[in-house]
Amino acid sequence: MAVTTATSMQSAPIRYDRVSIALHWFVAALVLGLWLLAQVWDFFPKHSAGRVALQSLHVSFGLVLAATLVVRIVWRASLGRRLPPANSGLLGFAARAMHLGLYILLGVQVLLGLFSRWLSTEALSFFWLFSIPSPVMPNKALADTLLEIHDTIGTTIVILAALHAAAGLLHHFIWRDGVLERMLFR
Ligand code: HEM
Ligand code: HEM
Repeated sequence: MAVTTATSMQSAPIRYDRVSIALHWFVAALVLGLWLLAQVWDFFPKHSAGRVALQSLHVSFGLVLAATLVVRIVWRASLGRRLPPANSGLLGFAARAMHLGLYILLGVQVLLGLFSRWLSTEALSFFWLFSIPSPVMPNKALADTLLEIHDTIGTTIVILAALHAAAGLLHHFIWRDGVLERMLFR
């Protein structure tokens, strides 16, 4: 399968715009941080102050992710620069499916996180500054089910993002075709 990018990229702008690039890496850092927080709090006993604080941080950064995702999607649909696909054929299809899949899973993950907290009796607070009132009645059983799905999707996102990152590194170090540079500041 041809891994050609040169022809489609020569006439096109070589990089995404700075806002898209900044948003891409900010979302990537948030996703990694949110996942790491959830791994770390497992070392703390249930209901301990440390565990609760890490969970509150997770929820607060989760709200930051929610807002950033909205900005990212609005930006992409409006002023954001869209580049021609970096690959054609099956590889191009796989890349597009991966990007779309990540957007969808991130959106679903945000909704599951928000509703699992709203359905529990714990407050959905933003860095201990203010709380967002729940639009739904508490339902502990449903909250637990949503959290299980949230847990599974969290792992799935991290695995897919790792594959996606591996593809980026393959483009850069093996194929040397400039695709990683599209998502890097000059
Ligand atoms: C949690 C981590 C990450 C997420 C959720 C993520 C998500 C995405 C998404 C959704 C796109 C599509 C952009 C668009 O067209 O709207 C994209 C593009 C891209 N990402 Fe990531 N990404 C992550 C981490 C990384 C890492 C670690 C690398 C590099 C090693 C990377 C390299 C790239 C590159 C080069 C593109 C542009 C591909 C192209 O132009 O076809 N990403 N990423
Ligand atoms: C891609 C981003 C995210 C990842 C990878 C992620 C991952 C996780 C993981 C692995 C857990 C542990 C689940 C368990 O122990 O059953 C968790 C719990 C949780 N997450 Fe997320 N999460 C993300 C985004 C969010 C967002 C956006 C919110 C909402 C604002 C959120 C809210 C929660 C809540 C409320 C919990 C339960 C904490 C508790 O037990 O009190 N998460 N998350």
